[in-house]
Amino acid sequence: MADAIRFLLNGEKRELRNVPPFMTVLQYLRTVEHMTGTKEGCAEGDCGACTVVIGEAVDGKMRWRAVNSCILLLGRIDGKYLLTVEGVKNPDGTLHPVQQAMVDMHGTQCGFCSPGFIMSLFTLYHWEGDKPATDEDIFDILSGNLCRCTGYRPILDVAHKIACGKKDRFTDHESDIVEALESMQRTIGMEYEYNSQKYFAPRSLSALRDLIEEYPDARLVAGATDLGLEVSKEFKEFPVLIGLSEVPELNKVEETDDALIIGAAVPYTTLVKTLERVFPPFAKIVRRIGSNQIRTVGTVGGNICNAAPIADSIPSLMALGATIRLRSKDGVRELPVEDFYVGYRQTVLQKGEFLEYVTVPKLPKDHIFKAYKLARRRDLDVASITGAFNIKVDDKGIVTFARLGYGGGGAVPQLATNAQDALIGKPWTEEVVDQAMEAMVQDFIKRRPKGDYRSDIALNLLKRVYVETTTPEADLEVWKL
Ligand SMILES: Cc1cc2nc3c(=O)[nH]c(=O)nc-3n(C[C@H](O)[C@H](O)[C@H](O)COP(=O)(O)OP(=O)(O)OC[C@H]3O[C@@H](n4cnc5c(N)ncnc54)[C@H](O)[C@@H]3O)c2cc1C
Ligand code: FES
Ligand code: FES
Repeated sequence: MADAIRFLLNGEKRELRNVPPFMTVLQYLRTVEHMTGTKEGCAEGDCGACTVVIGEAVDGKMRWRAVNSCILLLGRIDGKYLLTVEGVKNPDGTLHPVQQAMVDMHGTQCGFCSPGFIMSLFTLYHWEGDKPATDEDIFDILSGNLCRCTGYRPILDVAHKIACGKKDRFTDHESDIVEALESMQRTIGMEYEYNSQKYFAPRSLSALRDLIEEYPDARLVAGATDLGLEVSKEFKEFPVLIGLSEVPELNKVEETDDALIIGAAVPYTTLVKTLERVFPPFAKIVRRIGSNQIRTVGTVGGNICNAAPIADSIPSLMALGATIRLRSKDGVRELPVEDFYVGYRQTVLQKGEFLEYVTVPKLPKDHIFKAYKLARRRDLDVASITGAFNIKVDDKGIVTFARLGYGGGGAVPQLATNAQDALIGKPWTEEVVDQAMEAMVQDFIKRRPKGDYRSDIALNLLKRVYVETTTPEADLEVWKL
């Protein structure tokens, strides 16, 4: 018999057999459980009204992450603790410290956004960082919650009050929760079936490979922050889904002397800690992908395979010379990330093939590496242009290496090869940079002719790299003001 989807809903065990596996967690909560505290605003991951918290047992400790339930598929929460706003208060009806602070500090008016804010603030209360949460961390945690009434100030007051509180019934009973979750863990993957619709969650690379061979038309799903919208907005149904999030081999980040190897299913929130150390400018870009709720489940693998021209991680990967490893029953092939794209949202990925990992070579010490995302808002906005620059200027002042990765300039993320050619072998001067900017017009001409806003800002980013690398730090400080 097929497996049930098993999880704890606010501490109570659930075993689901009669729901479509691609139903969203929000639909399930509101229509099956009739728990309407979790709201639907946009149904596309933008407003945070639907925020719930997913708890996982990791090395004997609970890890709580806020996610958008409107695009989270039910198959994904097998073996997890699903915490909703109804489950936050204490069993005797008294409020959790986060809820009490929202009341005391006037953090709510019409109340529509409040359940979502409470769930995000709950994860701030259970802050995992080694150091106390900074203002930037608080903004990150709240980046995916919109409020039309309060003006945010009272909510930020709440955040400052409750950050890293860490003392509640969830910490008091942590070992019981861990034990309950561990008792539900599977040794082999889940195979769920309802009305001939299947959801597999394999637990090894070989099981994944076998499943893809058996179901070559299956859709793969990692964080579902792209695919989930096909359910919530386009009402698509998927006969077979194969989840990647439980495959250990796809969930690790390995660091060697020469490279970082990023498994296709590693969520951004996990990855960013290593990126901050190894490629700080790339980490800065990742911290601006979507919102906290998107980054807790979204992956670089999904970003690459979704093949959007504005995918934010790709320009950095291209500039750094990353390669991707594709696997199928016939074996593996490795290719530079820029060779993956063949047209608008088209890739060389074959049926039965999947992305296993990305290898990002470490930067030689004498290279300049910078990355920028330009968008109308800091958070939750599609990039107008994302650019990443890996340049070497030798001790004679000559450019000996240049890889310029761009997203938003054309139908696919791309290297600005004309501009690269205009730089290499020339002195790193403003005149040469201006020539390279002229050459870059050819890189974008098909979709973004000269004078187009995106084309102009793409060109100007190269000038910015020049200015930032040739202007004394003290003078740059004035600019920053
Ligand atoms: C509100 C919101 C804001 C967003 N903001 C940004 C942003 O600022 N910048 C940005 O770049 N993106 C953004 N995105 C898009 C999305 O979050 C990213 O593209 C993310 O990286 C997708 O990863 P995922 O794991 O969720 O992919 P999924 O949705 O799980 O998968 C995406 C696609 O890739 C396929 N796939 C996934 N993994 C593999 C694999 N290993 N092998 C083969 N195929 C695979 C899936 O079948 C699917 O077609 C946003 C999305 C939302 C909803
Ligand atoms: S309903 Fe808006 S983010 Fe989910
Ligand atoms: S209190 Fe009304 S939307 Fe936030």
